[in-house]
Amino acid sequence: MKIIEANGARIPAIGFGTYTLKGEAATDMVAKAIEAGYRHIDTARMYENEAEVGAGIRAAGLPRDELFVTTKIWRDDLAADRFAESADRAIEALGIGPVDLLLIHWPNADIPLEETIEALNAAKARGLTRHIGVANFPSPLLDEAAALSPSPLVCNQVEYHPFLAQEAVLGACERHGMALVAYSPLGQGGDILEHPLIVGIASKHGKTPSQVILNWEVSQDRVAAIPRTKNPDRLAINLDVFGFELDAEEKRSLDELSRQRRRLIDPQFAPVWDRV
Ligand SMILES: NC(=O)c1ccc[n+]([C@@H]2O[C@H](COP(=O)([O-])OP(=O)(O)OC[C@H]3O[C@@H](n4cnc5c(N)ncnc54)[C@H](OP(=O)(O)O)[C@@H]3O)[C@@H](O)[C@H]2O)c1
Repeated sequence: MKIIEANGARIPAIGFGTYTLKGEAATDMVAKAIEAGYRHIDTARMYENEAEVGAGIRAAGLPRDELFVTTKIWRDDLAADRFAESADRAIEALGIGPVDLLLIHWPNADIPLEETIEALNAAKARGLTRHIGVANFPSPLLDEAAALSPSPLVCNQVEYHPFLAQEAVLGACERHGMALVAYSPLGQGGDILEHPLIVGIASKHGKTPSQVILNWEVSQDRVAAIPRTKNPDRLAINLDVFGFELDAEEKRSLDELSRQRRRLIDPQFAPVWDRV
């Protein structure tokens, strides 16, 4: 498994996303993902599945230090006192000791960024997490957050796939030595999987469209991806994305496709996104 090294963190380049997985299915799929070879698991307070994800991690029985586990604090809880309480609840719910990475799930312009970054650092100082980072931060805000944070931020988790280039965020991650963790890396299983360019490249390599998409992502420096599935058969498919190489023309055509900038996740509370 490729590892992304970012400001002291070692992030496995493929992780397992758990958004929408609930109850026993969440526990079962997390345990199966770990058995299939995943070493990076992504959850969040907002997914309301931390307890079940934690149970799946414990059921898999792997030594804790072989797994990289991320959770996130929701945007309503970014004031210092609420942040601290939410981080405590997250660790309690997961039941696996400290997490590897604690993220601010979305920025919130109603709460001073300085206060939230201080609270994030305090959670680390209290031993709740080994590393800290952010999600859904456009590049100017990422610059601000990085400047405010005494402990380095190790990643910005953002939507990224061959329908949505992220040049500005990638540039900011590079400036700050951070990883870009691609969420919705399969475009949420939508029509990206049927795009003729991607289907054509896939058949040339004898791979699935999902494997071509994930390969395009994780073959880039500092990019990790966290695909989600509720289908056990797809766990291995989404992990088996390293054994082939797209040629320069294929990469160029996928880069070009991504410049259509089709964003899937754009709630009304989203920040002003980068234009590129
Ligand atoms: N930070 C944030 O704000 C944020 C936002 C969104 C997501 N995330 C994180 O990123 C993770 C992944 O993103 P996502 O859940 O939005 O979507 P995604 O991983 O891009 O897509 C998941 C969808 O793709 C399908 N799929 C998975 N593997 C496939 C394959 N090999 N072939 C065909 N279809 C396949 C799944 O269907 P089946 O289940 O039927 O396989 C599911 O419908 C989330 O689970 C979450 O952990 C973070």
